[in-house]
Amino acid sequence: MTALDPRPSVIDERLKRVKRIVAVTGWKGGIGKSVTACTLALLLAKKGYKTGLFDLDLSGASDHIILGAKGLFPREEKGLEPPVYEGVKFMSLVFFSENKAVPLRGANVSDAIIELLAITQWGELDFLVLDMPPGINDAALDVMRFARRAEVLAVTTPSVIAHDVLERSLALYRSLKAPVLGVVENMARGAKTNGAAASLGFDPGLEAALGRPAALLKTAFSRDLDGALKGLKLLN
Ligand SMILES: Nc1ncnc2c1ncn2[C@@H]1O[C@H](COP(=O)(O)OP(=O)(O)O)[C@@H](O)[C@H]1O
Ligand SMILES: [Mg+2]
Repeated sequence: MTALDPRPSVIDERLKRVKRIVAVTGWKGGIGKSVTACTLALLLAKKGYKTGLFDLDLSGASDHIILGAKGLFPREEKGLEPPVYEGVKFMSLVFFSENKAVPLRGANVSDAIIELLAITQWGELDFLVLDMPPGINDAALDVMRFARRAEVLAVTTPSVIAHDVLERSLALYRSLKAPVLGVVENMARGAKTNGAAASLGFDPGLEAALGRPAALLKTAFSRDLDGALKGLKLLN
């Protein structure tokens, strides 16, 4: 990105009518970023907020599976209009990684993500939830640089290692001046660890609810997340 790069201002313009951007991040895969991002989007939409969800994890795109969203594709209309599923405007890199007409330029994932941020028509939204690629790699850093108002929701697991790596990535986010909403400790088995704003218990019923939004919203996992929204400053 150079000073002459026009894309940040194009993306600002595209995201102008989005009130809040929430980047769901975590230091690695398999810790619950995607179930958190999807359930958060479904909960917010059900409460009547205009909500968008963007799966930016190219190698591990899974929101379409968690939501059970099949056969969707954005409409080309002065850019790309996300399909609406269960009240959520949904975009995913998976739409472009399959054998379909790809409106992407640029050689790498970062460029693809930035391109999509620049051409997607989200319209008016209360919340845009970003399911981030794991860790803080170039793609994740670029998303934070380009979606300049994004607030970070960090997912971790109760392990000491997870917390240690998370601390280092949070320091990086802070150096990018990204506001951190809080740390969500997922798959918790007891009292929440110091520093976590919310704790989501391990839910043996979650797996069976994947792919069915109505069932997902009825899980203990969803109830835990719903109960954490105020503490995470997502709702008043
Ligand atoms: N609190 C939880 N209780 C039970 N299973 C969970 C919980 N959180 C996540 N999982 C399961 O762990 C797996 C990985 O979750 P996912 O959201 O895809 O992780 P990530 O996006 O971080 O790679 C999924 O099968 C999901 O159902
Ligand atoms: Mg994921």
